[in-house]
Amino acid sequence: MERLQKMLAHAGVASRRKSEQLILEGKVKVNGKVVTELGTKVSSTDTVEVDGVKLEKEQKVYHLLYKPRGVISAVTDDKGRETVADLFPHIQERLFPVGRLDYDTSGLLIMTNDGDLSYTLTHPKFKIDKTYVARVKGIPGKEQLRILERGVDLEDGKTAPARVKLLSADAKQGKAIIEITIHEGKNRQVRRMFDAIGFPVQKLKRERFAFLTLNGLNAGDSRELSSHEVKLLRVMAETGKIGS
Ligand code: URA
Repeated sequence: MERLQKMLAHAGVASRRKSEQLILEGKVKVNGKVVTELGTKVSSTDTVEVDGVKLEKEQKVYHLLYKPRGVISAVTDDKGRETVADLFPHIQERLFPVGRLDYDTSGLLIMTNDGDLSYTLTHPKFKIDKTYVARVKGIPGKEQLRILERGVDLEDGKTAPARVKLLSADAKQGKAIIEITIHEGKNRQVRRMFDAIGFPVQKLKRERFAFLTLNGLNAGDSRELSSHEVKLLRVMAETGKIGS
């Protein structure tokens, strides 16, 4: 037996939180009856429907995507923009992104129908490292980079300590390339951190997520994660014991 919202997330309907919303909105039926109790337990013999559509048991799938810029990290978009799901026309399972990258940010995004793993990988308490490379306007000095390392006061709280490295600086063009590793996932966090020190981001790419990299992929490409990689991610998410 498992909780209904967990089962919906497992089945790839939506994240656990979104699944809870669907239940509260009365969109979920168990054995023909609408259920709005979040704690309801269901088993594999129960028939579950969402919006009148019966759930089929789905295989868990895990893909690593090199998200291009100009693509939205969602499964649908009311403005008709290209979504990350559109980049998987050959995959039958309903994939959704683990966390999100801004429309203008490129880089590594995991796509899966495993709602549980997605939840733990994005929960701040699990502290998964994410490494970004930013091109910024201007050339920050050591002291300014140290501010990023120590934590910046944003409107939604102070950022946790980060690792920051100046990769190159172009004095003529007045721009710098900086690598930054954070483990939180506040909205537009990297851009807001650089804004806070007065060096706006012109271009942003996520190069790493935990131990995963974009090696061998071009923008728009994806590959399946190996079962070993999935296992490692699960261990990391559950124990927080493997660094990047
Ligand atoms: N930080 C940002 O500012 N944007 C992203 O897409 C990811 C992290």
